Amino acid sequence: MLLFQMAVHAGEKMGKNGLKDTDSIATPIVSGTTHWSKSSGDLIAFKEGRRHSFEYGRYGNPTMKVLEDKISALERAESTLVTSSGMNAIVATLLALVPPGAGHVVTTTECYSEARAFIRDKLSKMGIKVTFVELNDMETLKAVLDQGDVTLFYTDCPTNPHLKCIDIKLVAELCHRKGALVCIDSTLASTINQKPLTIGADIVVHSATKYIAGHHDVSSYTRSHVFS
Ligand SMILES: Cc1ncc(COP(=O)(O)O)c(C=O)c1O
Repeated sequence: MLLFQMAVHAGEKMGKNGLKDTDSIATPIVSGTTHWSKSSGDLIAFKEGRRHSFEYGRYGNPTMKVLEDKISALERAESTLVTSSGMNAIVATLLALVPPGAGHVVTTTECYSEARAFIRDKLSKMGIKVTFVELNDMETLKAVLDQGDVTLFYTDCPTNPHLKCIDIKLVAELCHRKGALVCIDSTLASTINQKPLTIGADIVVHSATKYIAGHHDVSSYTRSHVFS
């Protein structure tokens, strides 16, 4: 499928799997939070894992699921999780993957400012080691990785605001050799111009108020991630 066809059609359910009570061509916005079971048997089947239900909004939502599946297709991700903001996605990723008291995050001196501030000011308070390297200083990155305790490398590519790029493939090779994960904020490339997971990154983050939405008019945000 061509990329633009994928952007339109990927993930769309067309009346199947979760949006079955509609024949709407455009994905309907489901705003309800709690999903009901039609019988006790249905509820038991859900609890026993024999039936799918969104159950409650915190666990998922049919409209968001379409968006998640579409982004997975575009990013070639195993799975995608939509969150309430880009910063929410970044914070959730870091808290999920970097253990307090033992983790070590390497990030770049040039990187989205709020992410950099969270890493510098908040992670360090949780006993997480934080190291900054210059964006394309691979020798220093290698030396830091040689310490053997790096959990995760984080940066955006292209960077906000100077649009500088790193060699994601090389960074991923260096990091994986030492057992470190690589998370790339790909917001400023969009899912069309760059696919970090296909060149070695483990997790991709997007702020969906930018290019991914096309015209700066959405108030929901996404995180696309894959654990390989
Ligand atoms: C590159 C980049 N990543 C993440 C964010 C944070 O996203 P949000 O504003 O959706 O929290 C921004 C916001 O400007 C950004 O430019």
